[in-house]
Amino acid sequence: MQNPFVYGEVVPGDAFVDREQELDRLVTDLAACQKVFLISPRRYGKSSLIRQALAQLGRRGLLTVEVTVSSYSSYLAFLEGYARALAATETRWDRARQWLREALPSADPLVRQEPGDGARGRFSVTFPDIASAREVGRLATEVFALPGQLAEQRKRPVVVALDEFQAIEGFNGGSVEHALRAAAQVQRQVGYVFAGSEPSLMEKMIGPKRPFYKAGPVMRLDRIPPDLFAGFIEDRFARSGVRPEAGLGAAIVELAGNLPYDVQRLAHETWDDVRASGARRANLDDLHQTLARILGEQDTFFEAVWQRLTLAQRAVFRAVVLRNGREILAASTRSRYRLGGPSSVQAALSALVRQDVLLKEGQTYVVVDALLREWVARRTF
Ligand SMILES: Nc1ncnc2c1ncn2[C@@H]1O[C@H](COP(=O)(O)OP(=O)(O)OP(=O)(O)O)[C@@H](O)[C@H]1O
Ligand SMILES: [Mg+2]
Repeated sequence: MQNPFVYGEVVPGDAFVDREQELDRLVTDLAACQKVFLISPRRYGKSSLIRQALAQLGRRGLLTVEVTVSSYSSYLAFLEGYARALAATETRWDRARQWLREALPSADPLVRQEPGDGARGRFSVTFPDIASAREVGRLATEVFALPGQLAEQRKRPVVVALDEFQAIEGFNGGSVEHALRAAAQVQRQVGYVFAGSEPSLMEKMIGPKRPFYKAGPVMRLDRIPPDLFAGFIEDRFARSGVRPEAGLGAAIVELAGNLPYDVQRLAHETWDDVRASGARRANLDDLHQTLARILGEQDTFFEAVWQRLTLAQRAVFRAVVLRNGREILAASTRSRYRLGGPSSVQAALSALVRQDVLLKEGQTYVVVDALLREWVARRTF
């Protein structure tokens, strides 16, 4: 029997839970060729949601293209990857090459088949003649126009997903945003989803005075409802031949801080441990043993995170863990955990948020990594 829980990668359809409204909305907006912004903290499930949406749109006959902006080490490399992804809507590599040569005549793209796979195989795209920033800028304008041409030529709407979009800022700041926005807004037959996992950067990017201000609808992905997630976990345990004790799903969701990644991870590891012992039932003890094992394995890593913090930050971090993130600035909390004055507590909180250790949700502070939270609760004093 295969482990039914998946983490650390885009989840396949059968491991995908809920998100029905979000999926509907994303599919509808993209099919209407809107330019959608999708924002959430890391590991909430943006990429998985996008993959589901693109699959649905593909089944409806739209052409879909997906690029992870953060995987590229330079602006030029990103343009090469983007051009490649667009050309890959042709299933044969020689047709992809022909299309690119015709669409980008002045850039003289070099399209090379990667060895081994025959006519349908992978290929790479490079622009060996492009070097200066000015040439890259000119190339960008041409590459950003490609989705529109593709839609026209193939007589089908195109949907482009640019994941980890916040990384675009690193390439060439404002000018990339400008060029992309200018291209996208005239492409009536192209839907875009710009997804980003650093909410503060993304919110700035869609703010006034920036090119993407009011470019299209903004979706902020929330957590999955805990009871739904818990039910899903127990159901998958049961169907994979391991009977869960009542409440196991809820306990996993709770321990994982309802972060989708951590929920799946804890479920996955618990399932593995239970199966390895040959058991056909899983209970709360099993869960806690698995958690202890994972925390042990992560010890060096968590220790390093802890060491990087100042003493004031450590104290505030512990208070957040023990107080469940609530009323950290209150006089009673500060005196009970010996935190000092409100301004220094505020400074420590801000530093922890900046370092992505904490996240502010309304008035509460949440530990981004639920396992780190458990580690702090158990291993620090
Ligand atoms: N709808 C879902 N159902 C079940 N598990 C999910 C769902 N969404 C996300 N997950 C879990 O969270 C993990 C991370 O999901 P995904 O990579 O889609 O998130 P992300 O927001 O794109 O993360 P990142 O910001 O790191 O790119 C998945 O591997 C999976 O374990
Ligand atoms: Mg992602």
